[in-house]
Parts: sequence; C-alpha cells; structure tokens
Amino acid sequence: MANPRLISAKIIQKILEEKIFFGDLKKQIPEKDLPFCNMLILTALRRLTAIKEILRGFLQKKIPNKHRLAEYLLINAVTEILYMETAEYAVINETVKNVRNTCDKFLGGLANAVLRKVCLQKKDLLKKADQVSPLPDSFAEILAGYDAEQIRQIGAAALKVPALDITVKSAPSAWAEKLKAELLPNGSLRLYDAPKVQQLPEYASGNWWVQDIAAALPVAAIGDIAGKKVIDLCAAPGGKTAQLRAKGAIVTALDISAFRLATLQQNMRRLGYTDISAQNIDALDYLQTASAQFDAILLDAPCSATGTFRRHPEVLHIKTREDVAEQAALQKKLLEACPNILKVGGVLLYSVCSIAKAEGEQQIADFLQNNPHFKLVPISAAEIAPYGDFADNLINPDGTVRTLPYFQNGMDAFFICKLQRII
Ligand SMILES: C[S@@+](CC[C@H](N)C(=O)[O-])C[C@H]1O[C@@H](n2cnc3c(N)ncnc32)[C@H](O)[C@@H]1O
Repeated sequence: MANPRLISAKIIQKILEEKIFFGDLKKQIPEKDLPFCNMLILTALRRLTAIKEILRGFLQKKIPNKHRLAEYLLINAVTEILYMETAEYAVINETVKNVRNTCDKFLGGLANAVLRKVCLQKKDLLKKADQVSPLPDSFAEILAGYDAEQIRQIGAAALKVPALDITVKSAPSAWAEKLKAELLPNGSLRLYDAPKVQQLPEYASGNWWVQDIAAALPVAAIGDIAGKKVIDLCAAPGGKTAQLRAKGAIVTALDISAFRLATLQQNMRRLGYTDISAQNIDALDYLQTASAQFDAILLDAPCSATGTFRRHPEVLHIKTREDVAEQAALQKKLLEACPNILKVGGVLLYSVCSIAKAEGEQQIADFLQNNPHFKLVPISAAEIAPYGDFADNLINPDGTVRTLPYFQNGMDAFFICKLQRII
C-alpha cells in the first residue's frame, strides 16, 4: 500500500517532470496524509537547489532513468533529515524500503549509505545548503532587469513560509480584532500560523475571503466604481471579482475554464454575491465579438504566475523564459482587444502575478507606445495604502505598481497599472 513518503515522491516527480502545479495533484493524497505530504513537498520544492547539490556530492553516478523515482525519494528524505523534525531512523528505514520496492535492491543499499552520511554530516550540510541560491538558473533568467541585491532578497523570500492574508468586505480594523490578525496598510488582514481557513471565525458568514495582500491591490487602484458596469475578464477563482462587487460595481465575470468558473460561482455564493453575471468564455473571443460597453475593465491577465512562488514553490522549477514569452504574447492580444468593449474615458486596470518585467513593465511600455488611445494614470499611495505606509516603495516613478516577494514581510510579486481610454 502506498505510504505518504512514496506518494510524496511520486507527486514531486510529476510536478517537476510534467510541469504540473501541486494544487492540481493534491486530490491524489489521502486526507489523513495531507498535512505531512503538504509540508514535505513544499519544503522540498523550496530547498530543491541545495538538496540536489548535496545529493550530487554523494552520488558518484546518475541514477538510471527507469529508476528516477529513487532520486525523488532521496530528495524528500534529505528534506526531512535537514529541515523537518521527523525521526532520522524512520526516514531512512522507510525510504530504503520504498526504494527497494519500487526500484531495486542495489539502489536501496545506496539510499541507505547516502542517508546515513547525510545524518552524520547534518550540521555541515545545513551550512553548505545556506550558501546555495534557492533560485535555479532557469528562474534567474526570468529575473532579467533586477539587480543583484534584489535577486538576493527574492531568493531569501523563496525560503519563507507565507502568512495567510485575508480581504474583508468592509470594516477591516474591527475584523482585525475579531480574527486576531495584523491590519496591513491596504486594509488586508494577516494571520501567522493560521489554522485551516474553514476553522477561522465566521468563515461561513461570508464576510471575508483569502487573498494575498498583493492580489488585493489591483482593485484598490481601480477607483470609484460604485454603480458602474465593470468586466473582470479572467476572473476565477474570484478574489478580485468579490472586491469589485464589494465596491458596489455591476460585475460581469468571465473565465475560459468551466471548472474554475464553477469555483468562482461557489465562492460568490458563500459571500452572498449572487448577482454577478458569470460566463464561461475565452476573453479574447468575447472582446472580439461582444457589443456591450463597460465603464471599467479588470484584466488580471493569464501569466507565468512566477510572482506566486512563496505559496507555489514549484514555479521556481517549472517556469521558464519561454513560458513568460508565451504568456506575454497572449497578454498583448488581450490588451489590444480591450478598446472594443471599453467606453471612452473608461479605465483598463491591468495586473499580473508575474515577477517577469516582460509581462509587466515592458508589456505596458510597448502597449502605450503602440496604442495612443490609452494613457497611463498614476496609482497613488492613498488608493492602495489607506491604513498606513507600506514598509517598501511599491509605486514606480511612472505610477505603475511593482510588488516584490520580500516587501512587507512577504507578498506575491505583482505588476499593476491603471490605463484610461482617452479617444
Ligand atoms: C491569474 S488567474 C485570475 C485570478 C483571479 N482574477 C482572482 O483574482 O481570483 C487567471 C485566470 O485566467 C483564466 N484564463 C486564462 N486564459 C483565459 C482567456 N483566454 N480568457 C478568459 N480567461 C482566461 C484562467 O482560467 C484563470 O482562472
């Protein structure tokens, strides 16, 4: 029968070799094993560059392709020995058993020898691991345009377990007290060591939802939309849709994925927002064919998601420059089709949870150069930080916003800008 260590190794193999998000594989984990597997897989992904280097030092030869599962079992075992509190004998015994059963006896012996050495050299190995950047070379390429100090801090942020951020419909100060949370400058609430979301006070009351602080900023910057017709082009699972509705907009929400749109609808029901018009459609098709006219568009565009690596550390290892280029091309098409449904004077709020400048700063510089019917409207501190100052400067000189993973003790990397249709 599959044990949690074997399940975790198979999942990490799938994530890294087939480039699948961990979230899409979680249903393969039995409920009772979820806390352990979750912790093991996320820790292994955060520490992967160092762990691979340590293993290279112990393995004279590459593990044959047909037995690659052994490599993932070893990666997880080293993760446990170095970074988790599990008893070493249990890690060694079970890993060796798993390697023997799924690969062969010889590799089982090798795993035993390697893991015993790791235990003996634990202190030195931990020091050595601290010297290794958590950012693989492929991810460093995505960081073109950042300086060495920024890249160092981005790497440091990749090792930290993120807090849980929450957006409330209204009255954030009162909710901060009720949930015993930190009130952040934008009005988001932050909980460290939070229990399961469903166990937090008043989950069922639908007055708040989970949303990273950076993800809450685009709608904060969109301006006064009360009573206005607003379309959310790439909406699911709906964190920003809910914010638009909370600001009093008449909201249309689109998403290309029927499954994700169903999740949005379920989320909106919990929040009591049952008057949102939700449509399962490719936003590009909609933009090219719809006759409706909107006062504002939220284009929280499909992107490489490279800004979310604190919560999804697999992006460090599965996203490449090519993914960034592919998403940037789609974003460009979506941006250029927006005037078809936007009133003159209307706002186009563009955001991406990508750390790559090609999807943010560069994308918008190119767009403005080629689309004279739009101008950039600077985003102000008053709009995005009504409850105090951010510890870091989020606003670029041109009024666009760039958040980085090490800002404010941890937030997703986002690029946000506000455009206005002028002709
Ligand atoms: C970054 S997520 C959006 C997050 C969402 N705005 C929120 O705040 O909860 C991107 C979404 O875009 C959707 N998507 C991707 N390509 C799309 C397209 N061509 N048209 C519409 N939706 C698309 C994906 O299914 C995904 O749900």
